[in-house]
Order: sequence, then C-alpha cells, then structure tokens
Amino acid sequence: MQDLRGKVAVVTGGGGGIGRALGERFLAEGMQVVLADIDAPLLERTVDELRGRHGDSVLGVPTDVSLLDSVEALRDATVAAFGTAHLVCNNAGIPSGSDGALWEHHVNDWRWALDVNVLGVIHGINVFVPLLLAQGDGHVVNTSSSNGTFAPLSNSTVYATTKSAVTTITECLWGQLRTIDSPVQASLMLPSTRTPGALDTGIWRPGRNRPERYERPGQAPTEGRDALTPFVEQLERHGQELVFAPIEEVAEITLEGILADRFWIYLPGERSAATIDARAASMREGRDPDYLVAPSPWNVPKT
Ligand SMILES: NC(=O)c1ccc[n+]([C@@H]2O[C@H](COP(=O)([O-])OP(=O)(O)OC[C@H]3O[C@@H](n4cnc5c(N)ncnc54)[C@H](O)[C@@H]3O)[C@@H](O)[C@H]2O)c1
Repeated sequence: MQDLRGKVAVVTGGGGGIGRALGERFLAEGMQVVLADIDAPLLERTVDELRGRHGDSVLGVPTDVSLLDSVEALRDATVAAFGTAHLVCNNAGIPSGSDGALWEHHVNDWRWALDVNVLGVIHGINVFVPLLLAQGDGHVVNTSSSNGTFAPLSNSTVYATTKSAVTTITECLWGQLRTIDSPVQASLMLPSTRTPGALDTGIWRPGRNRPERYERPGQAPTEGRDALTPFVEQLERHGQELVFAPIEEVAEITLEGILADRFWIYLPGERSAATIDARAASMREGRDPDYLVAPSPWNVPKT
C-alpha cells in the first residue's frame, strides 16, 4: 500500500500503547482512523485528544475483539463513518497475567489470552478480509511478538503460545493471498525500536482489562497487578537496568513496512538473529532446545 492519504485505517487496542501510536502515525499520513478498544474510558480520552488535532478524521469504537459480533459492529461503524476500511491492524493483545510454572496456570488465564490474542486476530481477519478482497485493495497488519515468533520465553508460556499462533495465522494469510494473486497484503509486526529499550505500555499491568468471565475462582485476582515493579527489581538484582524507548519508533517502523509491502515488520538485530539461529540449529540437527534455558535479560530466573 503506497498511498495512504484519504484511506481508512482500523486499529484494535487503539486506546493506548502501541495501537494509539499507530493511530497517531496514520493520522499524520492523512488517513482516517478508527480506534477500537475494550477500555471505553481510555478510548474516549484518546479520541477526544486526537480530535483536537485531527477533527472528524478519528473515530473511537468500543470493541471487545474476543467477541465476533463486537468486531462485526466495529466494521459496520467504520463503513458507516468512512465508507470502507483499507488498513486493518489487529493489534489488541494482553499479557495473560500468568508467568512461571505453566502447570500451575489457571485455565481461565489460557482462555482469556487465547480469546483476545488469537481469536481477536481471527475475528479481525474473518470480518475485514472479505471487504478488502471485494474492493481489491487493503492491508492487514497483525501484531505478534518476538516472544513466540523467534522462540518462546519459556517463563511466559501463555503469552508466547498466543503470539506463536498469531505468527502462524499471518504466515498462512500471506501465503493464501499470494496464492490467489490478490492485491491485498498481510504483514506481521513485531514491535521494535531503533533506540534500545522496552516499551512503556499497558502490557506491564496484566489484568487491567480482564472481563469477569475469565476470573480465577480461588486464586488471587490479577486485576491491577503491577508487573513492572517486580521486573525492575529482578533486573536490578542481576545488575541490569530497565530503559524505555520512544513508542513512536514502533509506529514509524510499522509505517515503513506497510509502505514497502513487507511481510516481516521489525528491526532485525543481533539478539533476534542469535535466537533464530539457535532454534533453527536445534531443529535441523535434532538437538535439545537449550536456548530455552539460556539466561536472558527478558527471561530472568526467579530469585
Ligand atoms: N509492549 C511491548 O513490549 C510489546 C512487545 C511485543 C508485542 N506487543 C503486543 O503489542 C500489542 C499492543 O500492546 P501494548 O504493549 O501497546 O499494550 P497496551 O496494553 O498498552 O495496549 C493494548 C490495548 O488493547 C486493549 N485491549 C485489551 N483487551 C482487548 C479486547 N478484548 N478488545 C479490544 N481491545 C482490547 C487494551 O485496553 C489496550 O488499550 C499487543 O498485541 C501486545 O501483545 C507488545
């Protein structure tokens, strides 16, 4: 997709974090942008703020991507406001709120993460791809993670599993679109930045948007849980420091990837290459996946 001006972007999880940054970047390109999020108050604040700068080019639609009819309502609201959609970013995603021993995870941690991170993307594809195919123009960008794409961080099984599924789904989508020679494009976005560092987003607050149906009876609620403070303490104990990188860089790299019609949208680096090589060598040579127990700043052993 080369010319974005006047076209319509839909971004799920657009109330905050990476989704909001994507929306802002697309608005700066002259697009009309629909932000969808389950967090209605956050979405309203964001849309109010962006309307001050971009007027009616931005619309907020409260949406739960884990529910098919909610994503269908998002499509209908988009078409009613702007006539169609061209760029669909299936970006909404959650940390499951569970890490550590996977045999201790409550099944509702799995259900919640699979419903949002995997079914949410499937709903976005099922609802919007027919529209893009019919108009012969469009681009789907699914947000995955290096965690679960290059290799899982074994401490975060639930999240890595869902992101591995998003990667596979997007690979299949790309393959099928190419097989039918469609002009519709599919990309996989792994958030990355030119400035080294983590991203200061809602991902550090697991449980923030956890609907009641995924409660964990008999276990401590994840609502409001702070994952950042213990992580920072953990890093400090290992002599490391957490630094944040500008989130706008994720949006910039994503825009570059969209304009270049690239499948892989991320910034390759030495760390990812080493992980990819280690995993590929393990598979190729039938060796145990030792890379899963290698110390990493992102998989710090519990102390
Ligand atoms: N932050 C990172 O370092 C990082 C790294 C790799 C991948 N990701 C992925 O990037 C995406 C965006 O995450 P983020 O870091 O901006 O976190 P975030 O929490 O700031 O943004 C996610 C947004 O999705 C919304 N959301 C949650 N459940 C939803 C649902 N059922 N329906 C609709 N919206 C829902 C949240 O309200 C939130 O606004 C996610 O898919 C995440 O897995 C993030």
